[in-house]
Amino acid sequence: MVGGRNLPTGPVRPGGHEQRGGVPISQRDWWRDAVIYQVYLRSFADGDGDGTGDIAGLITRLDYLGELGVDAIWVNPWYESPLNDGGYDVADYRSIHPLFGTLDDARHLVEEARSRGIRLLVDLVPNHTSSEHEWFRAALDSSSGSAERARYHFRGGRGPDGELPPNDWVSVFGGPAWTRLPDGEWYLHLFDPTQPDLNWSNPEVRAEFRDIIRFWLELGVSGFRVDVAHGKSKNPDYPDVGEMVDQIDFGDDHPTWDRAELHEIVREWREVVDGYPGAMMVAEAWVANWTRLARYLRPGEYHQVFDFLFLQAPWDATSLGSRIDEAITATSTVGAAPTWVLSNHDVVRHATRYGLASGVDPEEWLLDGDRSLLDRERGVRRARAATLLVMALPGSVYVYQGEELGLHEVYQLPVEALQDPVWERSGRTRKGRDGCRVPIPWAMEGRSFGFGADGSWLPQPAHWGETSVEAQRGVDGSTLELYRTAIRLRRELIGESLPFRWQEWNRDVLAFSRGSMLCVVNLSDEPVALPAGDVVLASEPTGNELAPDTAVWLMREA
Ligand code: NOJ
Repeated sequence: MVGGRNLPTGPVRPGGHEQRGGVPISQRDWWRDAVIYQVYLRSFADGDGDGTGDIAGLITRLDYLGELGVDAIWVNPWYESPLNDGGYDVADYRSIHPLFGTLDDARHLVEEARSRGIRLLVDLVPNHTSSEHEWFRAALDSSSGSAERARYHFRGGRGPDGELPPNDWVSVFGGPAWTRLPDGEWYLHLFDPTQPDLNWSNPEVRAEFRDIIRFWLELGVSGFRVDVAHGKSKNPDYPDVGEMVDQIDFGDDHPTWDRAELHEIVREWREVVDGYPGAMMVAEAWVANWTRLARYLRPGEYHQVFDFLFLQAPWDATSLGSRIDEAITATSTVGAAPTWVLSNHDVVRHATRYGLASGVDPEEWLLDGDRSLLDRERGVRRARAATLLVMALPGSVYVYQGEELGLHEVYQLPVEALQDPVWERSGRTRKGRDGCRVPIPWAMEGRSFGFGADGSWLPQPAHWGETSVEAQRGVDGSTLELYRTAIRLRRELIGESLPFRWQEWNRDVLAFSRGSMLCVVNLSDEPVALPAGDVVLASEPTGNELAPDTAVWLMREA
């Protein structure tokens, strides 16, 4: 046992722990204050030296995750797939891509992780399959109006001979959301053309996903991160989206996003998940505000939603403070706990976002990556302060692999190296998400800085070794050690139950207490006086004053 919490073991007994899918699971709501580490498998650790990360590599790094102290890991899609969208194009939901390993490897991972007190969440991708999925292949081989096509959205076109798409819906990756087949019908794909959208009003689709959920829970996973949770349901009349295309608050009437019917599907899943004590679901829902987000957390629905409203807030006390306040209030009204996410595999890494000049849009900036607009040191400094901020808040924290090393976005990737479909589909106007997916530096030197034996599927920058695990492990003040200490102290000093109370919230400073612990973050350009108390952790060396872009945890007399 290297770290993490012991997962309970023991006999099945009512109200205690129950054995399901081979995994003894506590009925405690473990996720409410968990630290959950996101493993982007392709880029985490390469066990077989083919340049792509895999389950074998992840298993060799479980001790590292145990030492870091995480409660669970969420693994991005690892299923059979043509990997046109990094695995979010699933060809078979019950098998593992040979690049990543086998089902036996997955079982082995569950066991190995559990023995270190770490749970495993997998990615559920229900909005669309891959065009290589047997259902879609059967649909292509079948005629218009067939049961095979009824699992997806096939429609006739508009205009003479139906040569225009059925409506004006657009793909998230750019271009129209419809592709025409040689037989003249069009099919819907809200993402890449190789990701046809499933028809969720078809009972067969619904039954299939309940079964997929059961399959993974039986294998021993502790739950799911659910992809595009605000998707799935479509207006059955397929109306034009019109001006709503630019709408951020979808309301109830958007033809494709955040529709009321999707909640019924979630409730069906929840019934299955509830049969496995300790299992949970976290929703990836990009909606405009907490009024909409809280709907996903109603009784009988998701256990958690990612708070992207917080992630999108700029580095200023007013914005961050109000996002925190909203999240805590909104989740408490539905009996849920907040989640704090600073980065993931879809967004520019936060060390870079926080280092960009004020007002610069990170995605637009990425296109030419103008170095003069980025202050790398300031970005890391703010990222470290943000870590202490989120680790002290009530709720759970999702850590994206590499953020514990203070990694920046690799914004210098040459366009020939880009793999994300966003680049081509957007007509090369959006560079895409490869820059946050570059394989992790484990060692200071070597062909792929310890990622694997034979290079990496995306090029790593020359300076990558300086931020490697090897360069930071055991080094006082390193970002890795800051994370380790923060995760440990969070568990020892805070826990879930200590009440959150704002102590100060103005345009310069955020300060709140959790019992006798006080977290203070200076978001101004000037030092501020440090309140009385014993400093237990600081994001930068700290005396009597708290420097700009610095956070501190203090213990005060009870
Ligand atoms: C959200 C995933 O996080 C992203 O990586 C993917 O491209 C889309 N959903 C489509 O599945």
